[in-house]
Amino acid sequence: MVGVQNKEFPHFFTKGREVGTHINARHLRHPVKSLKVIQETLAVFGPEGLTQCPTYEQLQELKYLDKVIKETLRLFPAVPILGRNIEKDENVGGHILAPDSTAAIMVFNIHRDPTYYPNPDVFDPERFTPEEVLKRPVGSYIPFSYGPRDCVGKKYALLQMKTVIARILTKYRVLPSKECSKMEDIRLEIRSTLKLLETCTIRLERRVLA
Ligand code: HEM
Repeated sequence: MVGVQNKEFPHFFTKGREVGTHINARHLRHPVKSLKVIQETLAVFGPEGLTQCPTYEQLQELKYLDKVIKETLRLFPAVPILGRNIEKDENVGGHILAPDSTAAIMVFNIHRDPTYYPNPDVFDPERFTPEEVLKRPVGSYIPFSYGPRDCVGKKYALLQMKTVIARILTKYRVLPSKECSKMEDIRLEIRSTLKLLETCTIRLERRVLA
């Protein structure tokens, strides 16, 4: 934690938790995708799943889970709006942004722009195969921001999310609740971070591995 300013501390401890909630509540409960993630988890960690501290190399092998997490952060970016101060005249698509103003970068909207993501509201991890990623401009996917002030914790965050999700899926099946069983039931609140409304809950059922 050396060198981290106080104002950044809460971010270190909370971000993974918020995003974890999004992932659990939405996509681990999809039966087919969840099955593929658990199959991959068993292939990497053995028949008992993730029961011990994983190695970095093992986490790199969770390629399908990697795509699931990326697609989740596309649909539900933990930081849905970024702000930047404009220091000098900037021409953005013919619009001049004046110095001393603030630009709001709508990450949520960029991530659902059909120019880059056909059927943008559909959850499809295959958007994040290496070939598909190369077809899009880098600025079309910015859950960790972009450029010199992007997230210093992005690699750590991905490792953390993979570990937590593989562990949860080893032990539990994630199921929808009655109140929140379809994508349309999911209600969001856009603040400085993206929040799920209270009613969007999930159910966990203990998994018995063969
Ligand atoms: C899924 C989890 C995470 C997401 C989506 C995320 C997202 C972001 C975003 C969008 C920014 C840029 C904010 C801006 O430009 O206004 C940022 C900055 C930052 N993040 Fe994260 N973050 C995550 C996890 C983490 C973790 C785990 C750490 C630390 C271990 C971390 C440390 C930081 C720091 C220190 C900054 C400020 C960088 C700077 O201003 O130079 N983040 N994060």
